[in-house]
Amino acid sequence: MKTSDSIFLRALNKESLEIPPIWYMRQAGRYMPEYRAVRKKFRNFLDMCKNPEVCCELALQPINAFNLDASILFSDILTIPDAFGLGVEFLEGEGPVFKNPIKTPKDISSLPEFNSDDLSYVYEAVSNIKRALPKNIPLIGFCGSPWTLAAYSIEGRSSKDFNYTKDFINQNNDSAHLFLEKLTNACFLYLKQQVQAGADVIQIFDSWANLLNADQYEAYSMGYVKKLIALLKEDEQTSNAPIILFARDPSFNTNKMAESNADCLSLFWNIDKIDKSFLQGKVALQGNLNPKVLLEDNDLIEAELNKVLDMFSKYPGYIFNLGHGITPDINPDKIKFLTELIRSK
Ligand code: CP3
Repeated sequence: MKTSDSIFLRALNKESLEIPPIWYMRQAGRYMPEYRAVRKKFRNFLDMCKNPEVCCELALQPINAFNLDASILFSDILTIPDAFGLGVEFLEGEGPVFKNPIKTPKDISSLPEFNSDDLSYVYEAVSNIKRALPKNIPLIGFCGSPWTLAAYSIEGRSSKDFNYTKDFINQNNDSAHLFLEKLTNACFLYLKQQVQAGADVIQIFDSWANLLNADQYEAYSMGYVKKLIALLKEDEQTSNAPIILFARDPSFNTNKMAESNADCLSLFWNIDKIDKSFLQGKVALQGNLNPKVLLEDNDLIEAELNKVLDMFSKYPGYIFNLGHGITPDINPDKIKFLTELIRSK
């Protein structure tokens, strides 16, 4: 079998399929005992991401456990801020913490030039995973959106409201745009090297799209996602890689996301209406079961799954996924149950 026979690539090409391809955001992670066994050997999560053999092992875990239709690189979106010298650490129970966050406009103007070769450990992980995967299972490379990376880099840690970041961009608007520009170029070079190393598909995670109202979204996020996608589509080496765009709980209509020129939109779990006549033929769709449903009993899971399939199963180019990542409290048996249930319908 060739990679082009993959049902995931066929769906990204907007084909109608009898059974949708299935993969899960955060399919490798703490909810799996085999992940926890590897994770406990590393104090800092990013040290684990810097080990290409371990990343390969972790990316393969969910493929082996659940027989999924796509694999995703094991890494993190915060590798880029780390390569800019912002000193990213993941501390026990705290999530990401930056040693040198962006505090002033000068921190932005004096950032070192992004050297994409600093992230060679990621490209090595990509080529290891690609070599280990069955030929018909495509590999998804990824990055955070420029806006999402800027929000973490300015806030210096995760936050509910990112108020410090919001103040910073209001008070230092030109610098904020300069930073977003630098991040956009870094994302392009980074994704290009992931594709050169073997990534078949690209996903852009705009995990903090929800912080912005519709106008701000256009100015600080969508504008740069559009630029990033244009750079990828114009480059000979990346122009053939389909691009998936995920945005968390956007305050704007889904149709707006299609303006990005992404090939596929990954829908957050609270989206229960879509404008099929507008989207059909323009973009493939991915999503969007609420991950929390997987904490319920099997009957409820099936009822909620049916709602999602009723909405999407006839859509040309539909990929089954959750509306956000698998959380650590989900029992892996539920992932197995759900995956088999979709294929049995
Ligand atoms: O299978 C996969 O999808 C794994 C690859 C992957 C990880 N992070 C591994 C990870 C991917 C695609 C990401 C993307 C990522 N990282 C996003 C976008 C996706 C989303 O959820 O919106 C974001 C926002 C991050 C930043 C990040 N990484 C945070 C906020 C945290 C801490 C939260 C947490 O769950 O602990 C991480 C850590 C992280 N990234 C873990 C994994 C498996 C858990 C770390 C651990 O084992 O301690």
